Amino acid sequence: MASSHRISRRDFVKAVTATLSGVMGIAMGIPIISYLIDPALNVQSSEAWIPLGPLDGYPIGTPTAFSFTRSNINGWEKTVNSYGGFILRKSESESDILALSNRCTHLSCSVNWNEEREEYVCPCHDAQFDIEGEVNAGPPPHALDHFETKVEEGTLSVKFPAVLAHEG
Ligand code: FES
Repeated sequence: MASSHRISRRDFVKAVTATLSGVMGIAMGIPIISYLIDPALNVQSSEAWIPLGPLDGYPIGTPTAFSFTRSNINGWEKTVNSYGGFILRKSESESDILALSNRCTHLSCSVNWNEEREEYVCPCHDAQFDIEGEVNAGPPPHALDHFETKVEEGTLSVKFPAVLAHEG
């Protein structure tokens, strides 16, 4: 008795073609889908320790400027922002370090350390902050923000983002 399940040559070619098309579609589709959704999954963590080099490079008693950049990836949009501040080592102790943000707490202009006047000065509306970031004069509503610090194997790092001064 002859089998009723025999397939014709034409049906066999159709089945093989369909299978190969499916395999090729998957092989090409995975990289495309991956390319399209990868940026959405690649969101940089907002918190991080930023190494600033050897602690020995920062003199005691004199505010020393530092800066770094952070990129923020939000889906397909990437932005790079600059941040900066001043390291003030108050003694030899690794726990006696103040890392101030250089963003004026009035309208975010960058403050500069003025060696002669021994204060940070904001060029926008002439605010002045003392060496530890407290407001001496001008419109800022509160002291300069600061970064947490740590020293590991002689390297100083600051924790991003800065701690807002009015949050303690
Ligand atoms: S932005 Fe610094 S005083 Fe206005």
